Amino acid sequence: MTAPLSREELKKKRDQFIVPGVKHMFQDPPNFVKGKGQYLFDETGREYLDMFAGIVTVSVGHCHPKVTQRTVEQVNTLQHTSTIFMTQPMVELAEKLAEIAPGDLSKTFVTNSGTEANEAAIRFARLATGRHEVIALNHSYHGESHLACTLTANHNWRPDLMPASGIAFAANAYCYRCPYSKTPDSCSLECAKDVERVIQTQTSGKPAVMIAEPIQGVGGAITPPDDYFKEVKKILEKYGALFIADEVQTGVGRTGQHWFGISSYGVVPDYMTMAKGLANGLPIGAVMTTPKLTENLQKQQINTFGGNPISTATALAVLETIEEEKLMNNAHVVGGYLMEGLRDLQKQFPDVIGDVRGKGLMVGCELADKKKNPLTQETARIVEMSKDDGVIIGKGGLYGNTLRVKPPLSITKENVDTMLKVLRKNIEATVKVGAAK
Ligand SMILES: Cc1ncc(COP(=O)(O)O)c(C=O)c1O
Repeated sequence: MTAPLSREELKKKRDQFIVPGVKHMFQDPPNFVKGKGQYLFDETGREYLDMFAGIVTVSVGHCHPKVTQRTVEQVNTLQHTSTIFMTQPMVELAEKLAEIAPGDLSKTFVTNSGTEANEAAIRFARLATGRHEVIALNHSYHGESHLACTLTANHNWRPDLMPASGIAFAANAYCYRCPYSKTPDSCSLECAKDVERVIQTQTSGKPAVMIAEPIQGVGGAITPPDDYFKEVKKILEKYGALFIADEVQTGVGRTGQHWFGISSYGVVPDYMTMAKGLANGLPIGAVMTTPKLTENLQKQQINTFGGNPISTATALAVLETIEEEKLMNNAHVVGGYLMEGLRDLQKQFPDVIGDVRGKGLMVGCELADKKKNPLTQETARIVEMSKDDGVIIGKGGLYGNTLRVKPPLSITKENVDTMLKVLRKNIEATVKVGAAK
């Protein structure tokens, strides 16, 4: 291994050799050189508590011994063949996914990323229905390809290019900023009904498919009401359209009580895509569907790296680890503790914390004043200060004002206490700075 550079030296080389669009979350980013469990270490040996898990990816903790061992064994045995040759790890992963997926989802196509999985799911749905149009939700994020970034309804993540065709957007279930000015007491699921309005007014009336994240991740952990997806699915069925649950962030146990986030809404999708946490940081993505919906997918498709033995063997080890270490239950219990802690903090800082939402360890904390004005700069400052205090917290949302807490599923209540203490200190400092202006 090469000797680590100081963060200043690395920054200089980065600016010289990496395209400028690759921006880091921090003004002054650490040079992370090591990870262990829920901790990261920089080149000086300083420890950081990782409450963001990469971007919601290190599901079982950094360099988990069992998972790493399986990766190394596979690296030493067989690294690559591509999908035109038959290998065991890909098939065993697909078999395991069929066991844990809801309903009749039992056929898998393995890719290298969430973007590719979403691309494949849309392609499959278009081929299955013979239709073209796609519905997505406001504030969504679905990836980086031309199609996936057109499906992304957040200007921060859309390049200024000609969009892909045939995509319409419906209102999202953003209860804190309800697009219909309803409150939980008066909620009549107008946002779900908007899917029908969009079908009637922005499509031919025959859309192929709708894609949605069960909880919007990059959008800021926007968590729909319990009956939202049931209502949406009913509308889609009425118009003969299929449904893709984008589980890239919510999948493999993150939301606590189920393997996949959509299951907590009592809906079985027609397609489910996943990536990120599935292989704990190795490149992988997958789309799952039903045997019926693959009947017309007979034409050969290939993927050079998709389903490679290293990523798929690792993913199997990740799923086994989640089961063996009961990490879904941990996500449920520690996630509940985290939400409680954040709600206590909200009581102390009602002018700063507007909303706390999420499920399991997929949690968002939206910073806004009493009039719901987004506290965007304050959020960036709090995230930067918390990093300087040794705690990594994510941020996101359309306005960049939502703290995203999505750590490895193995964190403890003590880790939550550490994060809350740092957050309290930095909110206090930020509020004071604001008051002194
Ligand atoms: C919900 C969702 N879908 C798709 C993607 C794209 O995944 P990838 O970056 O692996 O291409 C992301 C990435 O953040 C995501 O959050």
